[in-house]
Amino acid sequence: MCGIVGYIGTHEASPILVAGLRRLEYRGYDSAGVAVLDGDRMVVRKRAGRVRVLEEALDREPATGSCGISHTRWATHGPASDRNAHPHVGGRGEPAVAVVHNGVIENHDSLRRELEAEGFPFRSQTDTEVIAHLIARELGDGNELFTAVQRALPRLAGTYGLAVVSPRCPGEMIGSRLGSPLVVGLGDGEYFLASDAMAIAPHTAQVAYLQDGESVRLTTRDFEIRHQEHGSITPRIDRIDWKPDAVELGGHAHYMLKEIYEQPDTVIDACRGRIRRDEATARFGGLNLATRQLRRVRRVVLAACGTSWHAALVGEYLIERLAHLPVEVEYASEFRYRNAPLDDRTLVFVLSQSGETADTLGALREAKRRGHPTLAIVNTVGSTIAREADGGIYLHAGSEVGVASTKAFSAQVTVLTLLALHLGRLRNLSFGEGMAVVEAIDSIPGAIGRVLATEPAIKAAAERLAPARSALYLGRDIHFPVALEGALKLKEISYIHAEGYPTAEMKHGPIALIDRETPSVFVAPRGSLHAKTLSNIEEVRARHGSIIAVGTEGDDELARLSDVFLPIPDVPEVIQPLVAVVPLQLLAYHVALLRGCDIDKPRNLAKSVTVE
Ligand code: G6P
Repeated sequence: MCGIVGYIGTHEASPILVAGLRRLEYRGYDSAGVAVLDGDRMVVRKRAGRVRVLEEALDREPATGSCGISHTRWATHGPASDRNAHPHVGGRGEPAVAVVHNGVIENHDSLRRELEAEGFPFRSQTDTEVIAHLIARELGDGNELFTAVQRALPRLAGTYGLAVVSPRCPGEMIGSRLGSPLVVGLGDGEYFLASDAMAIAPHTAQVAYLQDGESVRLTTRDFEIRHQEHGSITPRIDRIDWKPDAVELGGHAHYMLKEIYEQPDTVIDACRGRIRRDEATARFGGLNLATRQLRRVRRVVLAACGTSWHAALVGEYLIERLAHLPVEVEYASEFRYRNAPLDDRTLVFVLSQSGETADTLGALREAKRRGHPTLAIVNTVGSTIAREADGGIYLHAGSEVGVASTKAFSAQVTVLTLLALHLGRLRNLSFGEGMAVVEAIDSIPGAIGRVLATEPAIKAAAERLAPARSALYLGRDIHFPVALEGALKLKEISYIHAEGYPTAEMKHGPIALIDRETPSVFVAPRGSLHAKTLSNIEEVRARHGSIIAVGTEGDDELARLSDVFLPIPDVPEVIQPLVAVVPLQLLAYHVALLRGCDIDKPRNLAKSVTVE
């Protein structure tokens, strides 16, 4: 979603800003822009389309100067256009201020009317432009820039991460945060501002995360953080752990493919140091809950969005199976506004790859507000959710750049398997049963590796799926969420409509869709309900639907019933989702490739959804 990069120092700002925006491209956006100060001269360049288009504009008409802000916009208010791209300028005459903004201003309509009545000219359809004019108005009243921003902010209802510069106050840059992340990067005689540490990681490892309600003033010499209500704040400096090559393609055509191929390592990294063989269990350092407290738990709530929500659904099956605890999986966007009953024996987890998803953060805050201890399963170290949760488990999956999440799903399911094992071993699960789970986990990387080796067959299957307008993904029991995830992958990157359903539920509606043009993808490894699945496949065949089946190698009957059979190794049921999802990821990838889609930057999608 929208990205912010700011720079103040001694080097030319534009190339640093553009390079930073490029590092945020993966988040999803549809226009980009910069505002650069050269003394008291401000140049704004912004373009609809890719960062490349902006860069070409800057090549033709450079914006020189060593202080600037920049943005990639993901349209919310008003379509993607040059005008609606950020930065937005404020002021009645010559622009007095330029602003880039992540988030949503909910009262922008009434503010716009008020400002228009005072003669502030509006040039865009965005909610952001009111911020620029509000700050310009405060500047006009003789306030210095930091004060002007702080005086404007209380008028805003909604969320923001902001970066602001003014030609009237050269040599400084202001950032503010409420509900949308912002991080300050500390260099040598230079400072950076970004919505995601990834944008500035090549320049510095030292960062200070702003908290909600805080603003920062940056100059080339120093920086100062103030809270809206509590005044000056002593910043906490963190180090970001970033491996320079972690975000390179490493010979793969797309980040998505690279991340699919990383999954054997992802599983190993998610387990590292967490398996206790002597006790046939798993342990987590960061849960911050005593064994006694975990034994008291009677119910688990898992809240998440998107792919993380699918991982949570797999977690539901696993925790119920291994720990016999009732689990509810909630859409974070629903949970946060529902009055879901929680008691002190309920364990609430939120799951998020980015740790910044607005609704997931909202769910976490709602549980906290109600006095409930909150736990998070998060990938991005230092993200808002990671910092606000009372305890949690990191995925250690490294940066995930592909918008369609793959390795984060695997890491989440791995962690949930370990969690289910841990909760199970505190209850009913015997040593032998626990050990069987540990051994199954040990076999996951090898099994995923073998599935990856079948990519040529998956490519061939993609040719059958690519012309379809619609597809069904079906799975039973623990494979139902895998079917949902497979369908989501296809939708996200190939734009083919796909629905995930519990296999038997197909008869209650979706079967009406089946014809020769609508393929069904069955997730059907051998397991307790296999015979029933085979009957469901027969039902589709009887209606001339073509069948792609993911099944256990050597399952001749399934192979005979399917038009395309995608084998996975014979592994225990508890780890089957982690292995069965891989062919579906590759299938979606190859379909998207055949259809000529922009795999790493699918239309309309954002990697990290920081608005509600
Ligand atoms: C966006 C992404 C999805 C992701 C979801 C939740 O919609 O496009 O891939 O699953 O957000 O993200 P999170 O970072 O909270 O896991």
